[in-house]
Parts: sequence; structure tokens; C-alpha cells
Amino acid sequence: MARIAYDSRDAAAFEAARHLPEQGLVAWREAVSRHLDPRPGTRLLDLGAGTGMWSRAFAAWYDVDVIAVEPSEAMRARCPHPRALAGDASTIPLADNSVDAAWLSTMIHHVPDPTAAARELRRVLRPGGQVLIRSAFAGRHDSITLFRFFREAVRVLDTYPSVEDVEAAFATAGFTTVSFEPVPQTTSPSLREVLANLRREAHTPLQLITDEEYAAGLARLRSAARTERGPVVDALDLLVLR
Ligand SMILES: C[S@@+](CC[C@H](N)C(=O)[O-])C[C@H]1O[C@@H](n2cnc3c(N)ncnc32)[C@H](O)[C@@H]1O
Repeated sequence: MARIAYDSRDAAAFEAARHLPEQGLVAWREAVSRHLDPRPGTRLLDLGAGTGMWSRAFAAWYDVDVIAVEPSEAMRARCPHPRALAGDASTIPLADNSVDAAWLSTMIHHVPDPTAAARELRRVLRPGGQVLIRSAFAGRHDSITLFRFFREAVRVLDTYPSVEDVEAAFATAGFTTVSFEPVPQTTSPSLREVLANLRREAHTPLQLITDEEYAAGLARLRSAARTERGPVVDALDLLVLR
């Protein structure tokens, strides 16, 4: 079970508020390109693909075959990628040895059994295939702007798996760490825009704090947005396993 429903309300909010601007994708393209060697015919799995931001980006960046797998019907309904399949990390609807790499963006904290997910990824990946995990891991709130204002949401983040938890789960299926790096992304041109576009349902940590805590965070964000200028840069982590 995911931590939140990902029903049609969450899906609409996610699509409206969480897709990165072009500028935000640039750093990820560079980071991913350091690890993947995409060639025509390369098959990439986007697991927990959501509304398809990354499937679309990978298909545009590289001449590869992208398969999106996503359990929520509401998220899939908003995914423009032509190959979006129903499935989750415990039952990936793909044949053994059928993909060259897997991309898991901000979804690992929803996976109830990361060890089973690692086993399943090992099954569908071809030998030497990599798993690229983009996430906010437990303990890693310092470079994420929302946590500066919604301080109480750090409590939620700290229930997510840590980097070490994920490495340990994947080690049971024979994966080892290739690299770990924070990737700074331009999330928004300004705090004012962050405030204007903020949708509580689009962020699991904001859904799981109290209404009072949310209101307090919003007041802090409003106050800062009145005076702070310049782009909002957040760093999420990229963990690469092979
Ligand atoms: C925060 S969204 C991220 C969507 C997309 N990867 C992105 O970065 O834009 C998390 C997604 O993980 C999906 N999810 C939840 N539990 C899952 C599971 N056990 N296996 C695969 N995906 C899951 C949710 O339905 C949701 O679409």
C-alpha cells in the first residue's frame, strides 16, 4: 500500500504541481547520462511512473524504448506515455531479462517490501543492468526547500527508508552501490511560484502532517515569498545500484 491514495484528486494535484520545469530536468539528464549508455533498442523501465514526467523525458532525451509501470489507475490515466502498464514493484508485468535499466523516482518510500522489489528488479533486468533511484531519503531534508518551511514534515520524511536501508534491501538480491550523489535541480523560478503552485495533495509529507502544522508551514512560506527572490533549487539524491 502506498502511503497516500494516489486517487484522481492526488493524481490531478501531482500533475499540476510536481512536474519539473525544463530547467529542472537539465541536471537530471546530465546525472542520468553519466550512468546510462542508451543506444537504439535499449529498454528502460520507469517503475512507479506516476503521471509519466520521466517516461516522457527519457523518450525525448534518448532513442530508447521506455516502459512505464504504475499501480494507480488515476496516475496512469494522466500518463501520456503510450506504454503505461498496470503493475507494482512486487509484480512487474515484464519478462525475465527484458530491460537494461530501471528508473525509480520518488517512489521507493511507497514500496512496502523493498527486498521483494529488489528481487523482482533483479528478475526483469538483464545482467549488468542498473537501478537508478531518485529520492528524498530519511535524514536528507536539509537541501529540500519545502522542509525549510514545513519543518514538521521532516518527521514524515524520517519514516522513509534511508540510503542504507535501500542499499541493504537491494544487497539481498545481489545489487551493490555504483554511486550516490545529490543532484541539485531548479524546482521553480521563485518562492512566489512555489507558493502559487503549492498543492498539499501532491506531497506525501504535507498530507501526513496535521492541518495546524500545515497552516504554520504555509504562513512561513508566505512570509518568505514576500521578500526572497531568485530560483528555488532543491537537491534530491540519485542512488545507482548494479
Ligand atoms: C511521488 S509519485 C512519483 C511518480 C513518478 N515516479 C515521478 O517521479 O514523477 C509515487 C508513485 O509511486 C507509485 N507507487 C506506489 N506504490 C508503489 C509500488 N508498490 N510499486 C510501484 N509504484 C508504486 C504511486 O502510485 C505513485 O504514482
